Order: sequence, then structure tokens, then C-alpha cells
Amino acid sequence: MSGTLRASPRLLPPDMPLPLDLAEPLARAGDGLGIFGRHVRWYPEIPSTNDAAAVMAERGAGQGCVIVANAQSAGRGRHGRPWVSPPGAGLYVSTVLHPRERAIPLLTIAAGVAIVEGIQAATGLKSRVKWPNDVYVDDRKLAGILAEGGTSEASPRQYVVLGFGINLMPAAYPPEIARLATSLEYELGRPVDRGLLLIECLASLSARYADLQAGEAHRVTSAWRACAASSLGRRVQWSGAGTHIEGVAEDIDESGALVVRTGNGAVRIISGEVQWI
Ligand code: BTN
Repeated sequence: MSGTLRASPRLLPPDMPLPLDLAEPLARAGDGLGIFGRHVRWYPEIPSTNDAAAVMAERGAGQGCVIVANAQSAGRGRHGRPWVSPPGAGLYVSTVLHPRERAIPLLTIAAGVAIVEGIQAATGLKSRVKWPNDVYVDDRKLAGILAEGGTSEASPRQYVVLGFGINLMPAAYPPEIARLATSLEYELGRPVDRGLLLIECLASLSARYADLQAGEAHRVTSAWRACAASSLGRRVQWSGAGTHIEGVAEDIDESGALVVRTGNGAVRIISGEVQWI
């Protein structure tokens, strides 16, 4: 999990009718979206879809509630970084989940797989996951995932807000990081159908989440290995808690930890992020 949400009564503006380019594919997908097909809320602009989803969870929203925004004025990334979210330049989505205890450690791993699969199904583009859950094309970041947990009186179980942002256009990221980031439009050389992208990502997320909930975590870790094939075998470094580790990223284990082969043997990395070197 990337972070913890503080439960507090927050205001949420009224949601708006979905634009046609999202409403039609969502209606067509129907049951194919599993738990995500029932309750989709749309906002032209909102501070953060993760915050809006947390408010919904605190109000007792059932699992599978989906928040989509055209723009975010205070989009968040991992480790407290901002996630710049100009209107229409990215897909900004958050979902409310009530996972079983055993599913929680692998949620972001499952989400990374789902986004890679969703992007390929909607556009044909092959991307890959970088541990734990960044989505890359070559060495350029295309999408990110932020999972935050919280508790609410409305639900006996911990809820998790799982948010993802996918760059649709180069306008999604500041020019100063253009070397490190990419967008679907840049990679494909054509505009993308964001409605199709949304339903393919939700359909895949629904299937991967169902695997975890059913105790079939091995299906998710195998799929992750396939999506990370070109990232495994690379030299990485990791720093945290006063330690610096350098070695070759070998695998993930069944708890989602990254196994790095160093000069002193295999080391498991359970949090933070690694840099490719
Ligand atoms: C990262 O790679 O740092 C994670 C980025 C996550 C961004 C998404 S956009 C939708 C949702 N709302 C947010 O404020 N953040 C996530």
C-alpha cells in the first residue's frame, strides 16, 4: 500500500452526467466490468479522485465505486509527489475496494498488471511494469498507481482506494520531465479512445482483483512476471532506512516483494521504489 488516508468528513461536489465518450463504452461493457460496472461518478474537475473515493468509502459506498475526473487540481503521486492532471490530458480514476486481509499486499501488483493489460487491449501498445507498479514504455513512465488505505465507521473492513493515472497526451506532464515520461498519443502517433481505455483497464482490474480475493495470488504474480519480463534481470538500486542496496532484480515473491540478487545474496525489498542503473 502506498499510504494511509485520514478519515474526515469532507465535502464532495455533486457529480455530473458522464460524457458520451465514457457513458457509451461503460454501458456496452455492462457485466464485463464486474464490480466496477455499477457505480461510476464523473467530475469535470476535482482536487483528487483518490480523496473523492475516500469520501465515498467513508459514506459507506460499496466496493467497486469508481470516480473519474477530467482534471485534478491536487492530483497526488506516490511518496507525496504531485500528479499533474490537466483537463483531458490523462485518465484519472480511483476505485473503492474492501479487500480481504490476504489480498492487500498484492493489490498494487495486481493493479500494475491490470493497467498494462488494459492498455494493450484498448490500444495494442505493449508497456511493462517496473516494481512495484509503475507502467513504462522503454525507460519512460506512462502510468502510475496510488493505493491508500483507510477505515470508516460505515464498513467493518479496512477500505482501500486504488487510483491510477494514465498519460493520454504529452500535455499530461511538465515539459521538464518529457525525457522521463510518455503518453499513449506520443507512443502511438494518434489520439486514443479514453472510454475504451477506461473499460479495458476496469475489466482487467476486476479480473485480477477477483483472483486475489479468491486466494489465487499466484495468477497475479505470474501475470506480473510476464508484464515485467524486460525489467527483470536489470541492475537496480534501492535506498531506505539507512541502507543502500545494489544488485540485479530477479523476481517477485508471493507477497509481492522484489527479490534482488546482490553480492551478499538475495535481498527482499518490500517498500519504496527502485532505480534502474
Ligand atoms: C505515482 O506513480 O506516483 C502514482 C500516481 C497516481 C495518480 C493517480 S491519478 C488518479 C488518482 N488520484 C490521485 O490524486 N492520484 C491517483
